[in-house]
Amino acid sequence: MAESNEKAVIATVIENTAIKQRFGRLTLLFEAEAAKSFSQVKPGQFAQIRLSGVGLPRTGIISNDIADIAHKQILLRRPFSFCDVTMDSRNKIRVMILYCVLGPGTLRMTTLGKGDKLSIIGPLGNGFSVPVGKKYALLVAGGMGAPPLMHLMGFLQANSPKMRVVVFAGAKSFEDFPFTVQVSNKNGHGVSGFTRFGIESYIATDDGSAGFRGFVTDCVRRWLRKNKPDTSEVIIYSCGPEAMLAETAKLAGERGIDCQVSMERMMACGIGICQSCAVECKLGDQGETEYKLCCKDGPVFDAREVVFERR
Ligand SMILES: Cc1cc2nc3c(=O)[nH]c(=O)nc-3n(C[C@H](O)[C@H](O)[C@H](O)COP(=O)(O)OP(=O)(O)OC[C@H]3O[C@@H](n4cnc5c(N)ncnc54)[C@H](O)[C@@H]3O)c2cc1C
Ligand code: FES
Repeated sequence: MAESNEKAVIATVIENTAIKQRFGRLTLLFEAEAAKSFSQVKPGQFAQIRLSGVGLPRTGIISNDIADIAHKQILLRRPFSFCDVTMDSRNKIRVMILYCVLGPGTLRMTTLGKGDKLSIIGPLGNGFSVPVGKKYALLVAGGMGAPPLMHLMGFLQANSPKMRVVVFAGAKSFEDFPFTVQVSNKNGHGVSGFTRFGIESYIATDDGSAGFRGFVTDCVRRWLRKNKPDTSEVIIYSCGPEAMLAETAKLAGERGIDCQVSMERMMACGIGICQSCAVECKLGDQGETEYKLCCKDGPVFDAREVVFERR
């Protein structure tokens, strides 16, 4: 597929560490010209990574649930957000990606090692925005929705130090968090591996295997009831499965809280050409809708405009 004018750059792998059974953390180094494109990256933006040239792991260590699709050809790049971006110097930028092994592309990521080169297009999409006048930022993550919110958390700490940032991370079960988790009590207080020093955080699991038993959105509701902030001073940022985003949008809407959601769609090109990443959006309040592109107009949308797909 033609790659429009969006330029691919080369990044070097400096670390690739396995986390638990299904996750990995990949650190990439961008240098010189490549570093320029990433020097202004915003939390919530993403990149398209070419993985077709990367080798597969040995057959014996490919888990059974993806063994049948492991050898599928992967012509298309795969989209990934960033969980951290740090500037070593003006010409060297480190970008960290958290990934979950789900299919042939992410399986190939597990074999990347120090010194390997990757072709990357990005940063792409719009990213989260920080409106003036907000005193509370509630970051609501579901499973693999955590990475862009981790990036946002660091950004808010550095750029909006007076803002009270609260992290809520949910997953089906303890094993489904893409980071290490330590919980100090049954209210779900304490998320290590996501939060940084001084950040208030809660974790929730559907099965109660760690933290609060129930949906992460129930945890948010409980926090709002207890803390009673002026809702005009609150902003909610959310990323995760669509049903969770829909519930987050609902709770925000009921209370008149501004809410930005990062949407996921299958992306063939990532740059607005193929139209494969449509997100249905409301057009006015007469029930009419239009389609926007997740890769170009998003992936971050105002929660009020999205027509969520209920599965
Ligand atoms: C903007 C954006 C940011 C993302 N950030 C991250 C990230 O930080 N870390 C991470 O691990 N993953 C992220 N993803 C998802 C990631 O792109 C897919 O998991 C990856 O492409 C899967 O590739 P694969 O070849 O391993 O598996 P595939 O065979 O392509 O897919 C495996 C399974 O995952 C489903 N799937 C794949 N891509 C998507 C998608 N975009 N939306 C919904 N379902 C999908 C497929 O339907 C299939 O069931 C992001 C996706 C988007 C759109
Ligand atoms: S992924 Fe091709 S238009 Fe969005």
